[in-house]
Amino acid sequence: MSKDVNIDWSKLTFDYIKTDYRYLSIWKDGQWDDGKLAEDNMLTISEASTALHYGQQCFEGLKAYRTKDGKIQLFRPNRNAARMNDSNAKLLMPEIPEEKFIDACMQVVRANEHFVPPYGTGATLYLRPFMIGVGNNIGVKPASEYIFSVFCMPVGPYFKGGLAPCNFIISDYDRAAPQGTGGQKVGGNYAASMQPHKIAAEKGFTDCIYLDPATHTKIEEVGAANFFGITKDNKFITPISPSILPSITKYSLIDIAKDYLNLEVLERDVLADNLSEFKEAGACGTAAVITPIGGISYKDELHVFHSETEVGPIVKELYRILCGIQFGDVEAPEGWIYKV
Ligand code: PLP
Ligand code: COI
Repeated sequence: MSKDVNIDWSKLTFDYIKTDYRYLSIWKDGQWDDGKLAEDNMLTISEASTALHYGQQCFEGLKAYRTKDGKIQLFRPNRNAARMNDSNAKLLMPEIPEEKFIDACMQVVRANEHFVPPYGTGATLYLRPFMIGVGNNIGVKPASEYIFSVFCMPVGPYFKGGLAPCNFIISDYDRAAPQGTGGQKVGGNYAASMQPHKIAAEKGFTDCIYLDPATHTKIEEVGAANFFGITKDNKFITPISPSILPSITKYSLIDIAKDYLNLEVLERDVLADNLSEFKEAGACGTAAVITPIGGISYKDELHVFHSETEVGPIVKELYRILCGIQFGDVEAPEGWIYKV
């Protein structure tokens, strides 16, 4: 490592830390500029930017992992590039070429190498790519200019410490509309989730779980993670719906469940009234990794899966393999790991 930073890696939480460099590129007159690294973490944009008024913006989240031999690797950044382009298409924003997206991530990690936590601390470097519509534009129409940026910071667990079960509550509110933007990673979904999250937290829950917005009967996802359950006959089940954000972690777990653990996998409806079909459950995402779900509160009753304090054996095994791949201790399927 080139420089020393004074961070207690094992005590990190999921909070902003200003690191030394971020990447910025501008789209104007139909094309992206070459992009550059900047030390300043402030953006100056027009007061009339569409990102500020009409939510014309999207973001991504991925991590850089330090391996046992001190090297650094990214986990499936091509999938984040593809998902960002799906968000871009939905919000009429320009496409960001996959190579440019991955190159930006690589540049940011290399420039901030001293912020990548050491192997074994459980901490990682979280990368936050985002795109915003900017410029002088007061009507509800796409911006004429865009900023694509990637910044980063070292982080610890998103939900409480490591692999500890958390309790969730099913919300009466929706984060997205049935044919809306739930499947894209756009800020509006998260704005809509803040009040339901606050209500859940005030009742003592880690976060809320959203039902499908059309019928309010089927589990969709958590505020910042996807849901999966393990049935009593060992099937890996995860909900399917156009308003769920397609989690890269979830699709990775589907492959791990099939190819490493020989489990049958089904993407299908999960009825909130039928939680007893599962013996284990989890929330998964880049920030959340795998958070075991101890229990889910629904209609004033807490349904406990494996246990409120102990992690079930299949969730534990999925976690071991996923993190093993991400930190370079378990052989990854082809194309999952990008060496920095
Ligand atoms: N669902 C929502 C709403 C999210 O914000 C996230 C985080 O990115 C996820 C699911 C998990 O997705 P991923 O595994 O790609 O990080
Ligand atoms: C992620 O897991 O990368 C997320 O984006 C979750 C979050 C909104 C903090």
